[in-house]
Amino acid sequence: MTAAQGPMRVLGIETSCDETCAAVVGDGRRVLSNVIASQVEIHRKFGGVVPEIASRAHIEALIPVVAEALEQAETPAVALDAVAVVNRPGLIGSLLLGLTAAKTLAWLHEVPLVGVDHIESHIYAACLERERLPFPCVSLIVSGGHTSLYHSEGPTAHTLLGATTDDAAGEAFDKVAALLGLEYPGGPSIERAAERGSPRAVEFTRPWLGADSLDFSFSGLKTAVLYHVRGKGAEAKRRATHLSAQETADVAASFQECVVDVLVGKAMRAAEACGVDRILIGGGVAANRRLRARLREEAESLGLEVLLPPLEYCTDNAAMVAGLAYHYVEAGRTADLDLEARA
Ligand code: KG4
Ligand code: ZN
Repeated sequence: MTAAQGPMRVLGIETSCDETCAAVVGDGRRVLSNVIASQVEIHRKFGGVVPEIASRAHIEALIPVVAEALEQAETPAVALDAVAVVNRPGLIGSLLLGLTAAKTLAWLHEVPLVGVDHIESHIYAACLERERLPFPCVSLIVSGGHTSLYHSEGPTAHTLLGATTDDAAGEAFDKVAALLGLEYPGGPSIERAAERGSPRAVEFTRPWLGADSLDFSFSGLKTAVLYHVRGKGAEAKRRATHLSAQETADVAASFQECVVDVLVGKAMRAAEACGVDRILIGGGVAANRRLRARLREEAESLGLEVLLPPLEYCTDNAAMVAGLAYHYVEAGRTADLDLEARA
């Protein structure tokens, strides 16, 4: 299946949400290209991703982004060994566009097609550019749509240990940012505002959900921020915020610290429960510097290893997709051309 010499070259395509991404990865490790066309500017004025607009933007960006990824990787399409695509979960219209492009390329160049799960690809982001795979470990995936802990025993073998019962961590960042009048997307805005604030200014209650729970809940925290900022009662949602820049920074820092405490605490709990000495993190929120620093500190104090992907592999990208797909091809787990997208 692989070309006679050289690495196995997989083209990855990712269009599950609001970034149009394509990448070429060699042997599941070497990132030969990683191209991302972000739609952040398009969605900013709506304060969130508008699915129909996302689909239209993917249509415009897909072909140039794939062409750019092949060119940067110095890999003509005929030299590809497989084409991988995220086919679940995500915005259905957006997923279908990437899937159609991937099927077309796989069919045209007569190479295997691989359908990849978006969350599983976020876990794999921490494996890129490494000589050895980091399994077994605990994987903490924190993104705009997911907050989950897994016991990971291989690149394609993950057992769910716990997940959010309501809002995802990234979603909480985005909603609290909107509440504070900070720019979309909320995660990076809160992180920036928090740099000038005190994490101890407001003691938000940590949602631990019991001493052994590995589940998460962030909607109560979001409401606590709302009450803190606008006061209680039915009127709170409509009332305007009148915070000074310093107060905004303090609330941002205190909120961020609360989320980080819970994410770090539960990741450590999970590592102990599974008896593993490695913790991997992935997803957009894994780009948060405070979370990265605290994870590193806590892990070090407990003698655990922590795997933090570089920032560009935390948020949505296709390198993690192409890298993961290598292992599916090796295992013969390829897809047919009737592969479907699942929201
Ligand atoms: O993984 P991702 O790019 O897309 C999804 O699969 O959802 O994650 C996007 C999420 C958004 O909610 C965004 O606010 C959050 O990740 N995010 C951050 C940071 N950068 C992105 N949250 C906290 N701190 C950051 N630096
Ligand atoms: Zn994602």
